[in-house]
Amino acid sequence: MADNPNIHTLISLVKSKNVPKHVAIIMDGNGRWAKMHGFARSVGHRYGVEKLKELLTVSKAIGIQYITVYAFSTENWSRPKEEVDTLMNLIVEFINREIDNIKKEGARIHVLGDYSVLPEKSRNAVQYAIDYTAENSELHLNVALNYGGRAELVRAFKLMAEEIQNGKLDINDIDEKTISEHLYTAGMPDPDLVIRTAGELRLSNFLPYQSAYSELWISPKDLYWPDFNKECFLRAIMEYQKRERRFGGLANKNI
Ligand code: IPE
Ligand code: IPE
Ligand code: MG
Repeated sequence: MADNPNIHTLISLVKSKNVPKHVAIIMDGNGRWAKMHGFARSVGHRYGVEKLKELLTVSKAIGIQYITVYAFSTENWSRPKEEVDTLMNLIVEFINREIDNIKKEGARIHVLGDYSVLPEKSRNAVQYAIDYTAENSELHLNVALNYGGRAELVRAFKLMAEEIQNGKLDINDIDEKTISEHLYTAGMPDPDLVIRTAGELRLSNFLPYQSAYSELWISPKDLYWPDFNKECFLRAIMEYQKRERRFGGLANKNI
């Protein structure tokens, strides 16, 4: 289907201002969306995955460099097995179907989280996606998979302790940057904007260290992830562009 011409206007508008380098998204509300339509929760997840394609196209069009999507949290294992299986299978299906397009778009896939514990098929598909797109650098797509911010910090502290034991790191040299460098997002800028669909006013263990100074944009309660289209995304970024980021300093007008 052809894009609404309005989208092109919105893209030009967004591009003419400060485009965030890194946008992170909590893709929430698949289950509620499915319920609203009288479908099984798995159908909501299926529609949700499809939205990633639009997100990549529009991110590339406006020049975002890093997109992080929360796909599966360390706490999501507590859902019924059937739902977890659906999500794990969807990862494989999506990669098999879309990886060539993703590569053509110039996107590189990274995974934030311990994917070694995923079912073998999903783990292999993920590894394939990472390796297959490793040469790309135009757009980085971070998929948070079996990701939890607290687990990420535990891992970082263990890595640093190991380096101290091996004499590779001196305790006195540990600063905020050292910690950043031991997170899954090592070498990447912090998210400028964190978007959450479906209205919950919380971060649910998503990027707690990296989002310390991120701007937050949370959708109304009835805007579920499967309905979050290009226009919604662009409008969230336009709101971000109106924000004043002070980082603890003073507003420009007060200086
Ligand atoms: C987000 O949608 C997707 C995942 C957590 C995998 P939900 O499945 O959380 O949908 P709701 O919040 O129950 O509506
Ligand atoms: C956060 O959504 C995780 C993902 C979007 C993958 P949840 O639906 O799991 O979060 P809670 O349970 O509402 O906090
Ligand atoms: Mg949810």
